[in-house]
Amino acid sequence: MICGSEKNSYFKSQNLKILGQGKLNGIVEISGAKNSALVLMAASLLTNERITLENVPRLTDIEKMGHILKYLGVNLVDKNNKLEIDSKNVSITEELPYELVNGLRASFFCIGALLSKFGKAKVPLPGGCNIGSRPIDEHINGLKALGAEIIIKKGIVVAKIKEKKNKLHGTHIKLKCPSVGATETLIMAASLAEGRTTIENAAREPEIQDLCQMLNKMGARIYDSGKEKIIIDGVNKLVGCAHKVIPDRIEAGTFLIAAAATGSSITISPVIPNHLEAVTNKLQESGSKITIKGNSITIKGKEIRGVNIDTAPFPGFPTDLQAPFTALMTIANGESKITETIFENRMNHIHLLNKMGASIKLNKNVAHIKGVKTIKGMDLVGSDLRSSAALIIAGIIAKGNSKIYGLEHLDRGYENFESKLKMLGIKITREFNKRSFTEKEYKITSDPEDIPKRRAA
Ligand code: EPZ
Repeated sequence: MICGSEKNSYFKSQNLKILGQGKLNGIVEISGAKNSALVLMAASLLTNERITLENVPRLTDIEKMGHILKYLGVNLVDKNNKLEIDSKNVSITEELPYELVNGLRASFFCIGALLSKFGKAKVPLPGGCNIGSRPIDEHINGLKALGAEIIIKKGIVVAKIKEKKNKLHGTHIKLKCPSVGATETLIMAASLAEGRTTIENAAREPEIQDLCQMLNKMGARIYDSGKEKIIIDGVNKLVGCAHKVIPDRIEAGTFLIAAAATGSSITISPVIPNHLEAVTNKLQESGSKITIKGNSITIKGKEIRGVNIDTAPFPGFPTDLQAPFTALMTIANGESKITETIFENRMNHIHLLNKMGASIKLNKNVAHIKGVKTIKGMDLVGSDLRSSAALIIAGIIAKGNSKIYGLEHLDRGYENFESKLKMLGIKITREFNKRSFTEKEYKITSDPEDIPKRRAA
């Protein structure tokens, strides 16, 4: 449990030490999807009955969402990878405290459920983060269209249902961009509204389909999830259910990329292969051999050819795998171009990879990569979840040892990452340094020079 003052030193006093030029071999078990489990936890607020979630990954983001639900009065029993959630005593007298929701964007997705169930909601603005400004205008505009009155004061979003009968009303919503979070917020809000809601230009991510599957088990009437136009016929009440979280396609893709980058052969399972089609297609184009059998994928890394990637909403290439794939392309034969189209600031790993000897020219959100023979191990600081995963892949590829700091990002989204890599044959250990860096010694920059040369633990 990270709490209180330790939290501040948590990420400064831990690093992953990686011996480079590793090989992976064997079978790795994929955990439940972080971005599904988080929204399913928010959706549990829509019923007074018990929701049992299985295959929930043990991550700091999940822990944070658990604290938020408990703050609202939810009774949450954490049975390792299973959560029992009981929202019958939820009260929303005061707003969620900023320190609870800060840094967990998914906490904002509670607003749709709280508003629809209780007629009002007060949730702090989620704020930006390392990868971009993360606006919420699509959430707000959609909730207003459903009949909510919304004011934002002193960073708190205060929403209430205008109509006396305290119910949102169905309507037609056209999103300006297929926002995952906004689609989820509006599906949850519309599920208890009066009448039909259609959401056009809806996001189609598997995590949204997982949410709709659970809501329909709870008695919601949602059609065509996973398509661009979703239909929700509001109902009066939603009941409890048990639901198993889908496998994490981003974790799965990260392991596939690590295998491709090291010329390794591994099997990942359980997965839902069509959740990874854009990724497996690009890995095959780049030279890996992919075999799909039921709910497992086997990859045999061979040569690595440079390929071009444009990130896109599902079913396109996922933005969450852009950084790990960039690490792979640093040692490809030939050139590649990686374009990040979703977030405005998701290239933080580029200059770190260049410090390791990669040859990448960055022009705004476009990385032009010339493959090099090898990169060298270094001490590096990850600055967001997925760029930290990219640095670990780079550390595995590199010649020599690396130390990756900034594990508070990594632990948000990858369950037991280093133990899974260790089981696959990678020499990787988590070091708990005897003392944490004092603030002046350790700036959260990506410049390894900032890491004081210190004795390892
Ligand atoms: C979800 O974030 C995921 N997080 C992200 O995963 C993922 O990268 C992202 O979807 C895209 O797939 C969770 O599910 C908890 P968006 P979300 O709203 O919902 C713009 C990870 O690494 N936009 O689809 O915040 C926005 O600026 C995380 O696991 C608006 O303009 O993403 C961005 O450019 C990172 N107005 C684009 O849409 C809005 O109201 C996509 O954002 C909302 C979004």
